[in-house]
Amino acid sequence: MTAREKDRPGACLEGGDEGQEQAVSVEDPLALLEEEHRHQLELCDILEQIADGLPFDADKRLACAAMTVLRFSMPRHQHTEERALFPILRERIAGDARTLQMLAQLESEHVCDEQLAYEIADELEHLTEHGQPANPDMLGYMLRGFFECQRRHIEWENTVILPLARELLTPEDLDRVRSAVAEGAPPSQDPSSARCAWAAAPAAGRGPGDPRH
Ligand SMILES: [Fe+2]
Repeated sequence: MTAREKDRPGACLEGGDEGQEQAVSVEDPLALLEEEHRHQLELCDILEQIADGLPFDADKRLACAAMTVLRFSMPRHQHTEERALFPILRERIAGDARTLQMLAQLESEHVCDEQLAYEIADELEHLTEHGQPANPDMLGYMLRGFFECQRRHIEWENTVILPLARELLTPEDLDRVRSAVAEGAPPSQDPSSARCAWAAAPAAGRGPGDPRH
């Protein structure tokens, strides 16, 4: 399991390190970014399930899994793109105006998405602690806006940016992206600290709605 694999949305539901193994390694940093996009699409599906369950049937375990990804895995992924992938691409596209504009647009979306991700994570934390959201209508609106934008954003990166990177990046460029990936999260970002306390409880103590049952 790669360091980032522990933070995929399903890892929380599957018991973290005991979750399913993935074959993607940091040896191919672009494949790792693609894998993280798959995790983010998995997150979007989870957020849609939570939104569909509002106001009374939102799943606390799904909320817990989503919270960790929103606060840690997603910002780290975006920082890797902003610190390494996008700057290197700018060096390789020889001033192509359309690509420059697209990269600027994706970066501005990162800023909005990250801010909204933290706000949603706070609302989901309230849901996990109190059994229901503070404001179901607002949370539903935030969730739907977020996952719809995320799916569109990832589609652009998967269909345009990553193929362009595969075409243009040199072995040395890939080393730079690999270093940014390996750098990982700042010490203050410890996903395990964000796990809901009750999520680590013995399975026997869980309710009938528990996905592990
Ligand atoms: Fe991305």
